[in-house]
This record gives sequence, C-alpha cells and structure tokens, in this order.
Amino acid sequence: MAANIDLVEIRDFLVDLAKQAGELITSNTGKTSYDDKVNSVDLVTETDAAVEKLVATICAEKYPHFEFMGEESYVPGVTKLTDKPTFIVDPIDGTTNFIHSFPFSCTSLGFAINRHPVVGVVYNPFLNLMYAGIKGRGSFLNGTQKLPLREPPVGSKLTLQNALIGIEWGTQRSGVNFEVKTDTFKKLAAEDGNMVHGFRSLGSAAMNMCAVAAGQLDAYWEGGCYAWDVCAGWVILTEAGGRVVGGNPGIWEPAVDQRIYLAVRGGDGSEQFIEDFWDSIEGELEY
Ligand code: IPD
Repeated sequence: MAANIDLVEIRDFLVDLAKQAGELITSNTGKTSYDDKVNSVDLVTETDAAVEKLVATICAEKYPHFEFMGEESYVPGVTKLTDKPTFIVDPIDGTTNFIHSFPFSCTSLGFAINRHPVVGVVYNPFLNLMYAGIKGRGSFLNGTQKLPLREPPVGSKLTLQNALIGIEWGTQRSGVNFEVKTDTFKKLAAEDGNMVHGFRSLGSAAMNMCAVAAGQLDAYWEGGCYAWDVCAGWVILTEAGGRVVGGNPGIWEPAVDQRIYLAVRGGDGSEQFIEDFWDSIEGELEY
C-alpha cells in the first residue's frame, strides 16, 4: 500500500488543512482559558482540542485507512506508533505562546510511513509562515521559497563558537533532566565553556526546527517533546539539508518518537559540530 501513496497529494491536503486549522487558532486567540496537564507549566486550551478534532475528522474522511496520532488524543501506554501510514499531529505547537499571544504558535501536521517522517507541514498563522516538505522533493516556505533561506557565509564552518542555538526549558523544572539542561546551557554559554553566539527559545519545537531548516538557527537541542512536535519539522529540516540526531551522545539515527533530539542545519562542519555538541552535554537526558 505504501508504494501507492501519493505524497504530493498528501502535502497539498495537509497545506489546505493547516490553513483551516490556522483560522480556528487565530479566531480563538485570547478567548480560551487554559488548564494544567502534568504541572502548572504544561498547558492546554480548549482550542488545542478543537483543532485536533477538526484535523482528525478531516484526515479520517479523506484517508480512512491511515492511522492518526495527535497530542490531545494520545493515551500514554496505549497509543502506539506503528509502521502503518500515520498522520502525526500537534494541533497547536507552542500552546504557551498561544495563551500569551506571543506569535510563534503553529499547527504541525506530519505524515510517517514505517515510522519515518515523509511529509511535513508547519503553519504559523500569526506570521503567515507555511513550511512544507516532502521526502526526496525538498522543502519550501510559502510554496516558493526553497529552504534553507540563508546559506552559511562562504568558507565558514559550523562550530559551537559561531552558532545560534535553539533551546527550550521544557516543563520539567526539577530533577535530572532539569540539571542536565541548565548545566549544559551554562557550559555552552560560558566564556570558559563554548561561548556560543547565543540561544533562542521560540517556544515551539516545530518552529525551532523550521528555523534550523531556514538557516536562521544553526541547531536546536530538545529533550522531552514527542513525535507530534517533531515529525513535520523533521521532513522540512532534512529536505533543507539538515539532520536530526539524538540529543544524547552517539545516536546518529534516532526514532521519530525518541523524545531526545539534536537538529542541526546542513553545511560544512556539521558532523564535527554534532560531536562537539554531544561532548558539551553535562550528563544524560532521561525520558
Ligand atoms: C511544546 C513545545 C515546546 C517543547 C515542549 C513541547 P506544546 O509543545 O513544542 O517548545 O519544548 O517539549 O511540549 O505543548 O506547545 O504543544
């Protein structure tokens, strides 16, 4: 069955669906209250659920034989990613941004076959940024702008010292993972450490991955997010020449649901950059 799937048709379908989701997101900005999930910084709104319902319904109508995995309907220990063609969806990635009207929320619509991301659409309706990619066919911003938008300066190698790196604090604010992250941030930033150019937190894994795909960030290090946060961005980044490896050392081919990732732009020096980044991690992330 997988061989007969028309990925261009799926991309076009997801772009159209992302626009519908985007309208629902923008029309509810500032209108919905929020609830806590695991703790007081792990947030969800009624709009997250409404957008997932819209996306899941339309996917099931058009592609009734495909599987669906979404953040809001996921049941830990029960929902399993299989080899079947699967839509992997975060209805609103950047929910905290959505609540605060910080304009970096998006809908993240991925499609995987044999657990490998093959189509990705990420749409930020606030800034009108529509990123889309198909495995083997490149990735684009707003249909025409081929990614990356920005190539590194000629002759420049990607190193930790000249990198702008995406990071997120995440929702765990104590324990091993919090220590590993904060110790590593300190080492990467410090004058007697790697002294990277800087960090940025866009508040959305998908937006961070698209920024790496665009060449606006050099890398994005993440521990704790899920397949729906990265599936779409994964295709967009890898089709822009970048790669996704493990966020702990030594994992060159992580699974899409690995939860710990390092996304790096393409270009000279990127493999050494990955090794150097891994060397700078203070401990090991656990999920
Ligand atoms: C979150 C964002 C955030 C990442 C978290 C995710 P949500 O997704 O992508 O950047 O650090 O791990 O949970 O909750 O806004 O859909």
